[in-house]
Amino acid sequence: MIDAKKILHYLICSSPWVNPRQTVDTVYFGEEEREVEKVGVCWIPAIQTLRAAHKAGCGMVVAHEPLFWEHLPTDRYWYDKEPGITKRKFLEETGMVVVRAHDSWDNWPEIGIRDSWAQGLGLTKRIRDGSSWRWNGLYEIPEQTLREFAQHVADRIKPLGEDSVQVIGDPEKKVSRPSIGVGCGGPDTEMVSYGSDVLIVCYDGATYWSTRERLAEMGVAVLTVEHGTSEMWGLENLCKHLAEVFPETSFQYFAEHPRTWTVKGR
Ligand SMILES: [Fe+2]
Repeated sequence: MIDAKKILHYLICSSPWVNPRQTVDTVYFGEEEREVEKVGVCWIPAIQTLRAAHKAGCGMVVAHEPLFWEHLPTDRYWYDKEPGITKRKFLEETGMVVVRAHDSWDNWPEIGIRDSWAQGLGLTKRIRDGSSWRWNGLYEIPEQTLREFAQHVADRIKPLGEDSVQVIGDPEKKVSRPSIGVGCGGPDTEMVSYGSDVLIVCYDGATYWSTRERLAEMGVAVLTVEHGTSEMWGLENLCKHLAEVFPETSFQYFAEHPRTWTVKGR
């Protein structure tokens, strides 16, 4: 049996980059000391994911992203509006506890969000870190065209449920220095200044008008994927890690949130 308090204590105390008084890694719903036998781990606690976790016998879900579509646990704009009401009632009826593991897991070395993303993409040779706690990383790959590298990324992310990668830049441009980041904290000018020639960002974090077009004007290529695509491998690793740290508890990874799909004009 385990409760949310034990999991949060472990994650926060192992993360010197997290200020324990100013973190969103906390209980978003339910009782902190409610003991459960099985825990679900997911990227975003979508209602489909919560239902699947409940069906599988999980009394708690550890999620990376927020429960009610607002970053802070105190922001409850959707709490009394649909689809928040449906989600809240489901949690009240089931007694499920929802905990967020965000600030700790974003920067966790080797198996956290950034490093899991790099590993999933096959970026094994990191040549430079960003200036703050494993937010961004610059990697070396054999020189290839942007088209080839974009195809490589698209092939890698396909098993996660994203059917394409969006590209800005000349398809025949040669690239050899991709950079990545952590979710919305994607690579930006710092990585360009270190020589990155192709930046992989997510739609949630890098809007076209404020970020991607600006990066294009700097002469670099930009690949864009969905936020969840860049973080799901990290959550699979969190699930495995928690199972190792708390062997008496059962942990299961869930990813039932809706995926995007694309159509190309004919
Ligand atoms: Fe994120």
